[in-house]
Amino acid sequence: MIFWTSLLLLVVMATTSVASIDKQAYIIHMDKNKVAANHSPAGNYRELYQAVIDSVNNFSSQEEDQDQETSPAQLLYVYETAISGFAAKLSIKQLELLKQVDGFLSATPDEFLTLHTTHSPQFLRLENGKGLWSASNLAKDVIVGVIDTGIWPEHISFLDTGMSSVPSKWKGVCEEGTKFSQSNCNKKLIGARAFFKGYETVTGRINETVDYRSPRDAQGHGTHTASTAAGNLVSNASLFGLAKGSAGGMRYTSRIAAYKACWPLGCSSADILAAIDKAVSDGVDVLSLSLGGSSRPYYSDLIAVASFGAIQNGVFVSCSAGNSGPSSSTVSNTAPWLMTVAANYMDRSFPAIVKLRNGKVFEGSSLYYGKATKQLPLVYAKTAGSRGAEYCIDGSLSQKLVKGKIVLCQRGINSRARKGEIVKLAKGAGMILVNTENEGEELIADPHILPASALGASAGKTIIKYMNSTKKPIASIVFKGTAFGNPAPVMAAFSSRGPSTAGPDVIKPDVTAPGVNILAAWPPMTSPTRLKSDKRSVLFNILSGTSMSCPHVSGLAALLKSVHQDWSPAAIKSALMTTAYTLDNKKAPFADIGSSNSLWATPFAFGSGHVDPESASDPGLIYDITTADYLNYLCSLNYTSSQMSLFSGGNFTTCPKKPTFQPGGGDLNYPSFAVNFKGNAQNITLEYQRTATNVGTPTSSYAVQVQQPSGVLVTVKPKILSFENLGQKLSYKVTFVGLRRPTTTSSNSPFGSLTWVCGKYTVKSPIAVTWQ
Ligand SMILES: *[C@@H]1O[C@H](CO)[C@@H](O)[C@H](O)[C@H]1NC(C)=O
Ligand SMILES: *[C@@H]1O[C@H](CO)[C@@H](O)[C@H](O)[C@H]1NC(C)=O
Ligand SMILES: *[C@@H]1O[C@H](CO)[C@@H](O)[C@H](O)[C@H]1NC(C)=O
Ligand SMILES: *[C@@H]1O[C@H](CO)[C@@H](O)[C@H](O)[C@H]1NC(C)=O
Ligand SMILES: *[C@@H]1O[C@H](CO)[C@@H](O)[C@H](O)[C@H]1NC(C)=O
Ligand SMILES: *[C@@H]1O[C@H](CO)[C@@H](O)[C@H](O)[C@H]1NC(C)=O
Ligand SMILES: *[C@@H]1O[C@H](CO)[C@@H](O)[C@H](O)[C@H]1NC(C)=O
Repeated sequence: MIFWTSLLLLVVMATTSVASIDKQAYIIHMDKNKVAANHSPAGNYRELYQAVIDSVNNFSSQEEDQDQETSPAQLLYVYETAISGFAAKLSIKQLELLKQVDGFLSATPDEFLTLHTTHSPQFLRLENGKGLWSASNLAKDVIVGVIDTGIWPEHISFLDTGMSSVPSKWKGVCEEGTKFSQSNCNKKLIGARAFFKGYETVTGRINETVDYRSPRDAQGHGTHTASTAAGNLVSNASLFGLAKGSAGGMRYTSRIAAYKACWPLGCSSADILAAIDKAVSDGVDVLSLSLGGSSRPYYSDLIAVASFGAIQNGVFVSCSAGNSGPSSSTVSNTAPWLMTVAANYMDRSFPAIVKLRNGKVFEGSSLYYGKATKQLPLVYAKTAGSRGAEYCIDGSLSQKLVKGKIVLCQRGINSRARKGEIVKLAKGAGMILVNTENEGEELIADPHILPASALGASAGKTIIKYMNSTKKPIASIVFKGTAFGNPAPVMAAFSSRGPSTAGPDVIKPDVTAPGVNILAAWPPMTSPTRLKSDKRSVLFNILSGTSMSCPHVSGLAALLKSVHQDWSPAAIKSALMTTAYTLDNKKAPFADIGSSNSLWATPFAFGSGHVDPESASDPGLIYDITTADYLNYLCSLNYTSSQMSLFSGGNFTTCPKKPTFQPGGGDLNYPSFAVNFKGNAQNITLEYQRTATNVGTPTSSYAVQVQQPSGVLVTVKPKILSFENLGQKLSYKVTFVGLRRPTTTSSNSPFGSLTWVCGKYTVKSPIAVTWQ
């Protein structure tokens, strides 16, 4: 789903960069205090920044070069809540002028980010009428803001039947635009806005036959994620009868506010920032972002900078980890104040069985709805067409060779559903879609427009061998509908992995949630494959990606927020992390589809584990983190004063001479432990400190249990934490002694855990050790 987006994007960037070389959108961070001091009247930042732009224009027109006429600089957005500054369309020269304005901190060129693109409440052990989903808990208002491709407001998932009036704290609006009016919002979908000034700076005006220039969703992704986070409980939802059951958001009585900042070619950072900024001032409680870019230092990561502002306003921010796994160090959205969500399989699958005439049988996966194929001739590569036929790319298949047959296609180059369309156009009767080594044994189900099954790389190899061994290869495909009872969770190969390159001192991702084959709401005007030739209309569709796992956690955060209104974003995050589970439904460690040698998945795939909402609502202890703690942490990364002011808004620009936090993140009160040993020396000692807050039983005594990573001695002082009150904080120290660098990595598991136990409470933190 996502892969084509980034490819197209590269093409567009290459062709439009010539036209826009002299002008580009930039995000300008300003020191609020200085700007306010130099301009009057204070307070109206739009006027202030417009004056700054006017003065730049005044100056540059005086300087104007005869043969190079530059158009005036243009103010796109003013940011007031999440960051302070603005976005503007500027030439290089205008940018240079702007840099001389008092209060200028930094400028970041706008860039496009990509979306991270389907039974899940039951899998999460949430039951209607019980525990967290009981009526008294659901009465309290929580607003989830979803920054995505917009929303289909008429969908049954967003009806407001029986809901109380819009909460009085809500300050958002329902913006009008193409096929979107104020009457499209209701007591469920309480706000909707669209942001495209950054996008249109690069692409020109949005083509309204391709997307709505309004909050209305043409791509489906935003409708899907919003309904996963907070859609109504809809019974008898399915895709062609597949995955039938109740579809509903994790917190189905939450209100939804849709912020559309993603368009057919991606999401402009300037637009995303504007969306975050507005969402915070509108009054959302939770923000869900199923998108991202590559990992980079926090000061140059705009989502990290803007989310820091959101967190300070008490907004919980949940982000997708990315779909760049299984290679290590691919995780994005890694700032410690973000909840970074990985993706796993649930116990549900959609088996589509491929049978060869030689008797071999393979279980694949498909959302095709229809009868089994007959036994048909099987063709591939040269026996199916010309160059590129192995990937079933446009124009590669010969109708003469393919008609009435099953075509084997390799993944890569074009989208999975598009390959099916090409086979169908060449009059093929079916498709076997096989993974390359890159995708390994991953089985993502798609709603193909012809009988088709997806198979792993090893099955692919066996079938190609069979085709080589016989003159007339024959195969058939049988569809088995929906199956349950698989081992789960299993980590998806595509889910991005740690360690984090931007901040190796925290384990990322933080948690995992269902992200493969997720059923959720879909715009009826958008076909399930998004192919033009696909004329099917569906109300629910099945998608995969960390884009799908992130809104599960956003919805759970909303659930916790409604039960614990006084908890900070860090406290909610801690509760979800320390209660996450790490054994599957067969009591074994999680398997990893991305591991070629069938090793168990590690915390660099799933973080603290799979979220467990019922336990998270009563975690016993939490690790809270204040704004000052985060700033001290950034100081420990040796940030310069201008980098610091991006986060502190000018209040905290110089780090203390004597650092409050030791370098390496050991003192940040994070609910997990990343331990990085540098060099080859033996017996390297690192000491970490943590502070736990009692939110369980007033008088309680917690004892520590440690599972040591191999080659590391772990000592905890004290070994008992005795609490006498609720809200009481107690600190402890953990010493990690790295005995020696492991010689072979495979025989040494550098992972362990530290768990505080008291009666029904187990407060668990993973330990991940790296040697650098
Ligand atoms: C721009 O220049 C004009 C004339 O030179 C002047 O009257 C005006 O105040 C200037 N505006 C700003 C914002 O500097
Ligand atoms: C808009 O998109 C449609 C459909 O892809 C295309 O036919 C049309 O030429 C586009 N219009 C512009 C102005 O690019
Ligand atoms: C459930 O939906 C299917 C079609 O998707 C329909 O045929 C069936 O009657 C529905 N059942 C109920 C109980 O609504
Ligand atoms: C099938 O045969 C082709 C050449 O005819 C060869 O290149 C390929 O490696 C063979 N594949 C397998 C899996 O045996
Ligand atoms: C920051 O600077 C100190 C002193 O120069 C150094 O010891 C430490 O390793 C640096 N930290 C980082 C994260 O670069
Ligand atoms: C900065 O200081 C002002 C005034 O003391 C305060 O209102 C504001 O919340 C502070 N901002 C941050 C980011 O700490
Ligand atoms: C490292 O520590 C271990 C355990 O305390 C000890 O047995 C060993 O002698 C030490 N090695 C060195 C080189 O100090």
